[in-house]
Amino acid sequence: MTVSSTGNAVIGCIGCGNMGAAILRGLSGREGLSLLGYNPTPARVLALADAGVRAMPDAAALAAQADVVLLGVKPYMVPEVLRAVAPSLRPDKVVVSIASGVSIAAMKAAMAEAGGPECPVVRVMPNTPAMVGKGVYALCFDDPALDQSRRDLVRGLFESIGTVVALPESKFAAFTAVVGCGPAYVFYFMEAVTEVAVTLGFTRQDATELVKGLFSGSVALAEQSGTHLSVLREQVCSPGGNTIAAINQLDREAVRGRIMDAVLAAYKRGLEMEK
Ligand SMILES: NC(=O)c1ccc[n+]([C@@H]2O[C@H](COP(=O)([O-])OP(=O)(O)OC[C@H]3O[C@@H](n4cnc5c(N)ncnc54)[C@H](OP(=O)(O)O)[C@@H]3O)[C@@H](O)[C@H]2O)c1
Repeated sequence: MTVSSTGNAVIGCIGCGNMGAAILRGLSGREGLSLLGYNPTPARVLALADAGVRAMPDAAALAAQADVVLLGVKPYMVPEVLRAVAPSLRPDKVVVSIASGVSIAAMKAAMAEAGGPECPVVRVMPNTPAMVGKGVYALCFDDPALDQSRRDLVRGLFESIGTVVALPESKFAAFTAVVGCGPAYVFYFMEAVTEVAVTLGFTRQDATELVKGLFSGSVALAEQSGTHLSVLREQVCSPGGNTIAAINQLDREAVRGRIMDAVLAAYKRGLEMEK
């Protein structure tokens, strides 16, 4: 079952904060989908009315109506929410969690504890560019209770709003360290270059716009040229020029190794959270 063949799949999101709202907005207007939302602060769901999201009075009512029950709450809340909705779940529905570090086993245990019927679970890791329809999503289909039609449905939903990679759960900490945390690394680098531009006399507004153009243009070049990143960098480094002087300085300071260490620190922390 894909999004285009679902007929009238009902997608409900419990927790309509930054990520939940972004996913609902991305799915808005897709043929064959009805969208539901529940959030303790009702204004968050009401703000999604223009995207066709119907506000539900509570999580259990949403779970009773939805085919896909999306969990957009903070990780520590996932077991509590699952216990509350477990009686409304069924084997022909699917729970999709975007919570960092909450394993499929932990979610199934919370549902079992509440005595609900078994319901398959898909674990998803998004990143914040989801808020502008440019998210990269890891999807984990390790739950043996998941059948092909629900797997295709969930994959189709996320493929319609971003880039999707299917990964075993054992790779989630690695994906999170690189892609989930990744926007922070990119913004950190953008901030550093912006500060230099201000130091060199550009207004903050001009510096910010210049740096955004620099990053989006470089990404477009990397995507469209199909050329290896190292070659693209070498193309800017004329012999004896000023760019190679900058790259030499980065190498002397071992910046590449420090970036690697930073991402590995996120990975190590992520592994601890998975336990
Ligand atoms: N942000 C990221 O970079 C990122 C990346 C990957 C994954 N994630 C995951 O995405 C999930 C959501 O993150 P977020 O950044 O979107 O957080 P968020 O903006 O704080 O959204 C969480 C939402 O959950 C609602 N909520 C609180 N208690 C609830 C309950 N009992 N039932 C239903 N909803 C409840 C909150 O509503 P109130 O405002 O009314 O309390 C809030 O709107 C997290 O699990 C996180 O691990 C986030």
